[in-house]
Amino acid sequence: MPDEVRPAVVRQLADGLVLRRAGAEDVDAIAALNVAVFGAQDEVAVRALLDGPLPVDWLVVAAGPGAERPGGGAVAAACARIPHEWCLDGVALRGSQIENVATDERYRGRGLVRALFDAHHEQAAADGELLQVIGGIPYFYRKLGYGYGFDVPPTFSVAPSSVPPVAGDRVVVRPAGRDDLAWLLEREPGRRRDGLTVVRHREGLETWLLRTRPRHGISWESLSVAEAGGQPVGWMRTLAWGEEGQLFLLPGEAADVEVANQLMAAAVRIGAELAGSLGRPVELLASDLPGTPWSRAVHGAGRPRPEPSGYYVRVPDEVALLRALEPVLSRRLATSGLVEDRGELLLSLYERGVRLAWDGGRLTVVEAAPPDPDPFDNGGVGVAPDWFPALVLGRWGASGLAARTDDTLLGDHAPVLDVLFPARPVDLSADV
Ligand SMILES: CC(C)(COP(=O)(O)OP(=O)(O)OC[C@H]1O[C@@H](n2cnc3c(N)ncnc32)[C@H](O)[C@@H]1OP(=O)(O)O)[C@@H](O)C(=O)NCCC(=O)NCCS
Repeated sequence: MPDEVRPAVVRQLADGLVLRRAGAEDVDAIAALNVAVFGAQDEVAVRALLDGPLPVDWLVVAAGPGAERPGGGAVAAACARIPHEWCLDGVALRGSQIENVATDERYRGRGLVRALFDAHHEQAAADGELLQVIGGIPYFYRKLGYGYGFDVPPTFSVAPSSVPPVAGDRVVVRPAGRDDLAWLLEREPGRRRDGLTVVRHREGLETWLLRTRPRHGISWESLSVAEAGGQPVGWMRTLAWGEEGQLFLLPGEAADVEVANQLMAAAVRIGAELAGSLGRPVELLASDLPGTPWSRAVHGAGRPRPEPSGYYVRVPDEVALLRALEPVLSRRLATSGLVEDRGELLLSLYERGVRLAWDGGRLTVVEAAPPDPDPFDNGGVGVAPDWFPALVLGRWGASGLAARTDDTLLGDHAPVLDVLFPARPVDLSADV
């Protein structure tokens, strides 16, 4: 539904609190809440998501006089639903990322974020979304219907002295401008689509640029382009966390290892400038992108640094997601040793179930079915609902998931489940 016909007030909560859509009048209050909760680096990002070109769904809980109208009352809690076109092995999946989840200290523990999520999930369903993603604090989002769906990319701590010195001027790195967006968009149709990626659109790229605006003299984010012979040959984003003193290097593309090294050298300069602005050292943390020239540069200059947890994913309707993925699931069967196989299984999610059937290299049935509460007894298949995203997105492959989680059972069907749900890579560092 277009914004103009959506009512501003979504629901009345206890104690006179109001859950409503945010308007332009709320921008300062939402930005101030995010700065108070997360730190100064969030201000520009939040403003870009509030008044930029992306159709972000911002919801707030407002308290006090005038809470029903945009700009009225005090913002007690807020969070954003950012639209994304996810893509799994070439199949586009409508969804979103929920971000900037914050409740003012005085209002915590009163169910405000639960209420915000209920409202976001309701609208996401109306919009036909198949999955939502969140990067966030441990455990909390499991309470709100999310499971850990895919890995945070391997992260490397980069010592500036290990980055090869800039040699020659074949490759030049400079800040990106609006004129670069056309080139970045041209990359999309031909881009490698192995595993989980997003389909990038102009509005998202424009938002990245908006987020590079300096605030109070500090540039918290950057988007850089590498050129050789006047032609773009690579790009990278960086994103800083102020109190933590960290600069994250988020890979886009690098045509070869020299380009990757030059992008990394540019990040060293960005880090030094930030350290000067903050008056303290800044640690460089690079996301890996396995199998690429960027990865060669990262492994050459950095040391692995453990990352605690995965990204959260919510799949509101498993049948709808599997049906959308039918082309890729059938392709996996058709290109496997099971191309001549046929059979069926019940994938029990314990509180609901999905029947799958396959025949001659095609997935022929995906339909809701009653669950089996104890598939162990009969060689059946069971996956707890909060581990379903990890299964379907290929976090570890079906057998890998069964090895790691107690209530994933593959029964007699491991061979076909390993074909349908193999481990898949993720390339989302610059996007989420
Ligand atoms: C985490 C935070 C967003 C929770 O907001 P809130 O409005 O207090 O959350 P709610 O009251 O809606 O809590 C929802 C449920 O989670 C529980 N919960 C709240 N904070 C939790 C936490 N940090 N860890 C685990 N569970 C938590 C609540 O008890 C409640 O459970 P229930 O519904 O079963 O009773 C808030 O504490 C906050 O802003 N923290 C600082 C910023 C932050 O960490 N944001 C998340 C970044 S990803």
